[in-house]
Amino acid sequence: MSRSTKTVPFFKPSIGRAEISAVISVMKSGWLTTGPEAMAFEREFADFLELPDPAGKRPVHTLSVNSATAGLHLALEAVGVGPGDLIAVPSLTFTATAEIVRYLGADPLFIDSESQTGNMDPDSLKKAVEKLGVSDNRVKAVIPVHLAGHPCDMKAIRKAIEGKDVTVVEDAAHAFPSETSEGMAGTLGDIGVFSFYATKTITTGEGGMVATRNPVYEARMRLMRLHGIDRVVWNRYSKNAESRSWEYDVTAPGFKYNMSDLAAAIGRIQLKRADNLLRERRTLAVRYKEQLTDIPDLELPDDAPGHAWHLFIIRTRNRGLRDHLADELAGEGIGTSVHFIPLHRMTYWKSQYELNPLNFPIADDLAQRSLSLPLWPGLSRKNQRRTIEVIRRTLHG
Ligand SMILES: Cc1ncc(COP(=O)(O)O)c(C=O)c1O
Repeated sequence: MSRSTKTVPFFKPSIGRAEISAVISVMKSGWLTTGPEAMAFEREFADFLELPDPAGKRPVHTLSVNSATAGLHLALEAVGVGPGDLIAVPSLTFTATAEIVRYLGADPLFIDSESQTGNMDPDSLKKAVEKLGVSDNRVKAVIPVHLAGHPCDMKAIRKAIEGKDVTVVEDAAHAFPSETSEGMAGTLGDIGVFSFYATKTITTGEGGMVATRNPVYEARMRLMRLHGIDRVVWNRYSKNAESRSWEYDVTAPGFKYNMSDLAAAIGRIQLKRADNLLRERRTLAVRYKEQLTDIPDLELPDDAPGHAWHLFIIRTRNRGLRDHLADELAGEGIGTSVHFIPLHRMTYWKSQYELNPLNFPIADDLAQRSLSLPLWPGLSRKNQRRTIEVIRRTLHG
């Protein structure tokens, strides 16, 4: 096997001159932390989410935060989650989806996946809630994750918890922009949380956005985002300051989850580019599908309407073949990843909740056979062709 010197990274962020000059402008402005850029980013993001027409719904409120993990924590705190509560989460997700449940002293209720998308299976959710018994109201929230950017069947999720007082918090870390027939992913539940981590579909390096139409949740999250202080720092220190900067009250033990203007300035440019970046990812996804479709026993992702194509996850016949393929690609300098090793296989979650892989047969199977291929705006035709060639050669397609 020839070892190529050229590498195809699994991911590379698309940062252009506009992002760089936006950051320089903020640095020159004298105001680095949360301020006009963060506020403008929130407004513009809310406008984007309302596209094409909110159809008489209440407006979306948006709050920029310094990570999706922070946003998810704020969301559950606003819902009033605490010890004794259960929060339904998929086992096939990143640990952040479940860890925030523990921050608040509550416990996750792990749910298996549906086989086609890997998303939380509504039937398994229904069964898990029914198993607790009709009079058991411990399930306070459910966190569907739009895995890889493939939107969850939100109608089926809502149906599974019908008649129960369960709040829906969407983990939309992978799902921007994802326009479904019901609206944008992240606005389909009670609260939605997006991630702008370095590898996400749009990035601020680290960062996130929370969206909700519920003004009570919005007010609580706004307060808790910054120390439980009843005024925003921008109002306290800027030349627009309403009154004496030191006069503020603390009304709750809040967190430090605000987004800096440096990050928001990057986010505003990335947001303007979001549709074009999606178009590029979709072109790559279509090409992978066209050129890998005839390989026997290789499963390819569905191209659902509204797919954000954060990840392109293929599935081989078995784990041995997946590992072999990953090794062959790595040997050619081509990066891949696995999304995800399910939480029921992670030491902390497994031991804390005595989780057994046999109770998550679909998620367990998918995770062993899955491989995420390079998919990022700027990935050249040539490098994608090389990636496809190595896959075809290895799997004899
Ligand atoms: C499904 C999912 N949820 C939440 C997160 C957390 O995002 P962040 O890194 O912005 O906190 C991630 C990050 O990769 C994720 O993949």
